[in-house]
Amino acid sequence: MANKLAVITGASTGIGKEIAKIAASEGYDLIVVADEPLVDAAGELDSYGVSVEAIEADLSTFEGNDTLLAATNGREIDILVANAGRGLGQGFLTQDPAEWRHVIDTNVVGTTYLLQKVLQQMVARDEGNVLITGSIAGLIPGAWQAVYNGTKAYLDSFSYALREELKDTKVNVTVLMPGPTETEFFRRADMLDTPVGEGEKADAGKVAKDGWDAMTDRKGHVVSGFMNKVQAAISHLTPDSMLAKMHTGQAKPDGVEESKSGR
Ligand SMILES: NC(=O)c1ccc[n+]([C@@H]2O[C@H](COP(=O)([O-])OP(=O)(O)OC[C@H]3O[C@@H](n4cnc5c(N)ncnc54)[C@H](OP(=O)(O)O)[C@@H]3O)[C@@H](O)[C@H]2O)c1
Repeated sequence: MANKLAVITGASTGIGKEIAKIAASEGYDLIVVADEPLVDAAGELDSYGVSVEAIEADLSTFEGNDTLLAATNGREIDILVANAGRGLGQGFLTQDPAEWRHVIDTNVVGTTYLLQKVLQQMVARDEGNVLITGSIAGLIPGAWQAVYNGTKAYLDSFSYALREELKDTKVNVTVLMPGPTETEFFRRADMLDTPVGEGEKADAGKVAKDGWDAMTDRKGHVVSGFMNKVQAAISHLTPDSMLAKMHTGQAKPDGVEESKSGR
């Protein structure tokens, strides 16, 4: 019998690469996607003896997502891991509009488009499993990372909304909510000069396993890591103004002057 197929976005590095390894080790054929060549990731995945197709596509665009969908050649997608995402630190007023737009287009617009297309196919077959990489950042107004946290609030919420809409089908939607994780994320987001960028982080393999297990157990969400579970629980009980202030303590770049307003 042919292997089942898992499509994993953002699989060149970090959490997505680790999820791809788990999927391959469980016998799934893979289509892995990133917006740069996936030579290293694909080479590593080949050793699992499953078929691996590496697609280079910019998932911030509809066209990039269509390229990915075309690569399935009509084959049924059993698992979709919608993981590709970009961070962006620093104060909002100094951010380049092209950069914050790319974050929204990748994390929100492209992901939403891909989910709609794949979920339409899955619901038509009444079968399928989806893991969306959200974040505990989505629970916290992200001062000094404001656009990014907004995109993750969208994904955390969107995932539960889809789950409810699909509850009478056999299609599952799970959201993985990691906390700070050791990947390329903070360097790419220009956040290495922040307390969270400099601080200790979770292992990407452990986060990936938590997400994979939650999806295969068909859970609504998983917050990866004990301290992140505590932080997520606290966020539900804490006023947004206080959460935003706490986030400043984590994401404000070193050397940026204290606010003079006293707020
Ligand atoms: N690291 C953390 O602390 C953390 C915490 C919570 C949630 N997350 C989320 O976890 C997910 C994975 O991030 P990561 O931490 O593993 O970071 P990462 O190492 O930077 O990986 C991001 C992946 O997404 C891909 N990607 C980004 N924009 C893309 C685009 N427009 N088109 C196609 N692929 C794109 C990247 O591909 P290229 O290499 O080709 O650019 C890369 O494979 C993201 O959604 C992130 O928001 C991360």
